[in-house]
Amino acid sequence: MAQKHIVIAPGDGIGQEVTAVGKKVVEKIAAKFGHEFTYDEVLIGHVSIEATGSPLTDEALETMRNSDAVLFGAVGHPKYDNDPTAQMRPEQGLFRMRKELGLYANLRPIKLFDELLGASSIKPEVLKGADILFFRELTGDVYFGEKGRKNNGDTAFDMAEYSRYEVERIARKAFDAARTRRKKLCSADKANVMETGRLWREVVQKMSLDYPDIEVEHQYADATAMLLIKDPRRFDVIVTANLFGDILTDEASQIAGSMGMLASASIGDGTGVYEPIHGSAHDITGKGVANPIASILSVALLLDISFGMKEESELVIKAVDNLLKAGYRTRDIADSQTAADKILGTEAIGKLVLTTLDEL
Ligand code: NAD
Ligand code: IPM
Ligand code: MN
Repeated sequence: MAQKHIVIAPGDGIGQEVTAVGKKVVEKIAAKFGHEFTYDEVLIGHVSIEATGSPLTDEALETMRNSDAVLFGAVGHPKYDNDPTAQMRPEQGLFRMRKELGLYANLRPIKLFDELLGASSIKPEVLKGADILFFRELTGDVYFGEKGRKNNGDTAFDMAEYSRYEVERIARKAFDAARTRRKKLCSADKANVMETGRLWREVVQKMSLDYPDIEVEHQYADATAMLLIKDPRRFDVIVTANLFGDILTDEASQIAGSMGMLASASIGDGTGVYEPIHGSAHDITGKGVANPIASILSVALLLDISFGMKEESELVIKAVDNLLKAGYRTRDIADSQTAADKILGTEAIGKLVLTTLDEL
């Protein structure tokens, strides 16, 4: 029996729909294993701007900081997406959370459930067995460098900046993870163009001397984008900068079948944040069709990484696998073989996971 305090931060759009399911899964695990989990819910993103005038208040941030883990949904609203002049934006809440909680390592596992081989637009024989773990650096790069306008607003700039220390700490995490997996590390950069890329490559090359058992390859980020589709199985662990990691993992979601399948763990020195890689998906918000599996798998990562609850975590993954094996799908992962009565909405998939967890 363990006592843990979890902050639920659903955010905006489908973030609310999928995190409601994620929370129920956490509650079910607590009941099943006799853990005592307590919860706080905080606002972040557009809903927080509306209620408080800030995308993430000091109070919400402190609540997160003082918890054992955060389950986060997504932020974003079309109002801002369509207004490039807006000064206050939902995404600023996300950046503040990442920066202030020191969440420099964003782990994005790309694992294809065999049952979803047909859900991807990539050929099954290219995909089968693909299993990649991305380490996306999360608190540096153009996201956090100096930004601004000059020339009366006609020129815009976003500075990409990395310190040796920042590259070292994410690279170290990626090397250590490779050691527990297939011992291959790909570092994706643009060392042919960017000074930050050359620092990145220098640091990874130097660190590789400490890891003679790890096979290291350096790829340019653009070539990595191509290789992910051409031959995803060639990759084991990929470490990359913030912006490249953002783009490459959305691309890699197609290996797993859908954005709705990819969970992530954002970790640093304190409280970890667990979240789907997808956004608030305005196009499907309120329709009840969002795939909650990314949030459910984020719960599995939370249990494993922040609480060291391996058995509980594996059970959550097994429950997802079982319902996929039974043929149930949300719309985004259905294919021509899926029977119409097996295509379910967010809540129905959530209920199935709970009953599967009861039976396991
Ligand atoms: P998105 O990830 O919200 O959606 C991209 C596409 O994937 C859409 O067609 C959407 O319907 C689909 N999709 C995403 N998640 C799904 C799910 N669980 N089930 C089924 N389909 C799913 O990205 P976008 O459209 O580029 O951005 C929308 C908003 O979300 C923007 O405001 C953006 O800034 C924000 N965003 C937030 C986060 C985050 O909070 N971590 C991540 C990405 C985008
Ligand atoms: C993500 C998102 C964010 C990012 C956006 C919403 C700012 O795309 O978490 O992947 O670019 O980091
Ligand atoms: Mn993204």
